[in-house]
Amino acid sequence: MNDRNNTIAGWVLFAGIVALGGSLVAGEVFKGERPETMGYPIEGVAAEAGAEAEKPIEFYLATADAAKGADVFKKCQACHTVDQGGPNGLGPNLWAAMGKPHGHVPGFAYSDALKSVPGVWDWKSMSEWLANPKKYAPGTKMTFAGLSNPQDRANVIAFLNSKSPAPLPLPAAPAEGVASTPGAAGDKAAAEADDAGAQKAENEPVLNEQQAAKGGIANVRGEGAPAVTAPGTTVPEKK
Ligand code: HEC
Repeated sequence: MNDRNNTIAGWVLFAGIVALGGSLVAGEVFKGERPETMGYPIEGVAAEAGAEAEKPIEFYLATADAAKGADVFKKCQACHTVDQGGPNGLGPNLWAAMGKPHGHVPGFAYSDALKSVPGVWDWKSMSEWLANPKKYAPGTKMTFAGLSNPQDRANVIAFLNSKSPAPLPLPAAPAEGVASTPGAAGDKAAAEADDAGAQKAENEPVLNEQQAAKGGIANVRGEGAPAVTAPGTTVPEKK
């Protein structure tokens, strides 16, 4: 009998050892890998990061082709002429616009939205404008979605630049590794995150004095608490 008990105990012990060994092996096999990027991807933020990957317009201008730009300009021809003395259409004539202030054709009924954007048409501002007119001048009359392809933009800007009595020399390509707008998208993301934080704090329940007092006068008048009786009120003694 005793022998038998020993055998049983032996098997139980053995089973325990096997289970322990098994769990060690399983632990090795199914190691928890630390993900490369922590957290959950949030849509929109990723898109922002993608937009940031675009190089400065000077990079595309260095290899811009005005002839190809003339082709891109077909998208603009519904509203614009570009030759000297050409008529205004829905949009102003674009002869010699580069280097001029916004709204360079006297007498054309520009929107206040565009006229109130400070600065002149240089490489960068023209690129931003053509990428997304509504973003550049919210409320603009130019109902054109924009050219998302930076090389298309560079080509059409080179074309516009050539339509001038004194075309500006195309800029040289910027040195590799120089970011055009350091952290522009990052800053925006950070600002959004701040926003979210502020909202969260707003929604956080905060006990006000009345709510705190609802816990009973006993809460307020705990041991060692100062007397909080307002003049003219009688507070029942704590029992
Ligand atoms: C649907 C019509 C339309 C199309 C298409 C269009 N534009 Fe315009 N564009 C306008 C209007 C209208 C304005 C005036 C905007 C304002 O006053 O807000 C304008 C203004 C401009 C200006 C500012 C000119 C100045 O005197 O300051 C430039 C530059 C320009 N467009 C370039 C282009 C280019 C390049 C394209 C094609 C890639 C294009 N536009 C496509 C209607 C158009």
